[in-house]
Formats: sequence, C-alpha cells, structure tokens
Amino acid sequence: DLPDRVRIHEVGARDGLQNEKSAVPTEVKAEFIRRLADAGLTTIEATSFVHPAWVPQLADAEDLFPQVADLPVALPVLVPNQRGLDRALALGARRVAVFASATESFAKANLNRTLDESLAVFEPVVRRAKDEGVQVRGYVSMCFGDPWEGAVPLHQVVRVCRALRDMGCDELSLGDTIGVATPGHVLELLSLLNEEGVPTNVLGVHFHDTYGQALANTYAALEHGVTTVDASAGGLGGCPYAKSATGNLATEDLVWMLHGLGIDTGVDLGRLVATSAWMADQLGRPSPSRTVRALSHK
Ligand code: HMG
Ligand code: MG
Repeated sequence: DLPDRVRIHEVGARDGLQNEKSAVPTEVKAEFIRRLADAGLTTIEATSFVHPAWVPQLADAEDLFPQVADLPVALPVLVPNQRGLDRALALGARRVAVFASATESFAKANLNRTLDESLAVFEPVVRRAKDEGVQVRGYVSMCFGDPWEGAVPLHQVVRVCRALRDMGCDELSLGDTIGVATPGHVLELLSLLNEEGVPTNVLGVHFHDTYGQALANTYAALEHGVTTVDASAGGLGGCPYAKSATGNLATEDLVWMLHGLGIDTGVDLGRLVATSAWMADQLGRPSPSRTVRALSHK
C-alpha cells in the first residue's frame, strides 16, 4: 500500500550546493531557500557547520543561516562534531544531522576518522542536541555500495543504523551516496532493518541518481511504508568526498511521480520548477532534472 502523504526532505541547498565548483553568493543561497519554502517545501536542509576547508562551498554558514532562520519551515543543518553543534546552536538551529558511513573507507575520506571513532564523536553530539530539545537526524552513507569497497554487506548498514538509533537519533536517512542501488536491494535492506528492530517510521531514503534508479528505488521504499524522501531541487548535488556521486533525485521528478500516484506533498510544482530554472541560470548550466526541462519554457 502506498502512503497518502510524503514528507520531502529538501537537500538542494546543502547536498546540491556543497558540490558546486563555483562559489554561490550567500544572498543567492538565501533566495533559493526562501523560494523553496514558498514552493511548499517544509523541511529544507540549509547548510553544514563542517570545517570550512573541507567544504569551502558552505563556509558561509554563519552568514547564511540567520538570513533564513525566520522562515516558517524546518531548517536542518549538518554537524560533524561538537564544534559543529556549538556553531549551529549558537545561531538557534533546532534541527541537526550527524552523518555516519556504513563503510570504513568513506568514514575516513569524509570525516577523517574510523567508523567507530566517528560514532564515538557523534554520541555526545546527539546527547547534547537532544538535551537541548533539538531534533536529530542520522545519515548513513554508502548503504548500497562504496566506490572503494564495492558491495556493502547489509549487516554493516544495520550495525550503524542501530548505533545511531541507540544514541537517540530521531530519524535515519539511508544514503545511496553513489547511486548504485536497485529496488530489490532497497527492499532487502528495509526488511532486514525491520527484523533487527529499526522500524520503518524512523527511516528516510536518500537516493542519488547516478544510474537513473532513484525514482524506482523510491517507489520500492514507498511500497514498504517509507514516508520521508530526500531530494534536491533541480537534481543538484553530489558529494565532494565520494567520486562517482552525481546529483540527488530531483525534487521535481519526485513530485511528478508522487502527485501522479495521488500522494500529497504540499508542493506547488510550478513554483518549484521556476525556482530550479532560476537556480540553473545562477549556476550557468541547465538542470539535469527531466521534469524541470519538460516544464520550463526555455
Ligand atoms: P579533522 O581535520 O580531523 O578535524 O576533520 P579535527 O577534529 O582534527 O580538528 C582540526 C581543526 O578543525 C581544529 O581547529 C578544529 O577546531 C577545527 P584548530 O584547533 O586546529 O584550530 N574544526 C572545525 N571548525 C569548524 N567547524 C567544525 C570543525 N571541526 C573541527 N565543525 C572534520 C574532521 C569532521 C571536521 C572534517 O572531516 C569535516 O569537516 N568533514 C565534513 C565533510 C562533509 O561535509 N562532507 C559532505 C557531507 S556528507 C554527504 O554529503 C553525504 C550525505 O548527503 C548522505 C549521502 O549521500 O550518503 C549526507
Ligand atoms: Mg547525499
């Protein structure tokens, strides 16, 4: 059975823009986020409080966040450690996300830590955030394949998911960082997680569209009962620390499918397409989203 409503966790301003070669002006990012909110998105990941040398594209987080903080939407931000949480809390962030990996290689590449070291870093971060009444999302990257290690055993993913849940993460997002998943694999992982005590209602899915499977994978997840889906407006995105990662599932492509299925999202597709077409102009190249291209008159 498909759900009646899906909550879209919009990641374009973070996952999308963290991968742009050119620096996007802070004012353009703020305008992007305002327009996404105006299009009806209610959860808009705004930026990351990571080391500025690691992700220079988001080094303006302190300038950006206050410009959008008053919007009537949830604005989660990524925090890799206590220093990141300090920065986020100082600006009044009410939602944060830690980001773990199912593999050692990516933990090292992305966080400069072993997998267990990174979990040890997150533990007090999650505890402190929860004590402050801040909602915490836990990302798990490389759930379906890793560019260095290849296939990722399901039990490795389960272990990291359980560790993040035990710490107190309210929600998990299963990341297909390099976009290699296929629907059967998605269903296998979701079923195993349920068997191992991780219920579907705390799970979101985060697909990158490298192999064109993101929508098919999303459909499989919806049939399993997942109701939180990550997507990026215009299909922006990738990850600077994972070679062969391309953009996320485009929010417009997702909305087209969901509305076609009669599933409510609260999103005004016309306004969203106009926003992504505007952003594509700012970036100087067309959106990779099929729906944006079909519906924008250029
Ligand atoms: P490190 O070099 O090991 O840092 O990097 P450290 O802990 O050794 O600290 C070194 C210095 O950095 C210290 O300063 C810290 O204060 C400072 P010093 O004492 O030398 O003057 N520092 C910071 N400064 C500002 N903000 C901070 C911070 N932390 C330390 N938060 C670190 C470790 C985690 C910092 C680094 O590896 C990092 O920033 N990584 C972030 C990488 C990233 O953002 N990747 C993209 C997001 S993940 C993703 O895209 C996947 C996802 O979309 C899901 C999917 O698709 O799978 C979520
Ligand atoms: Mg991602």
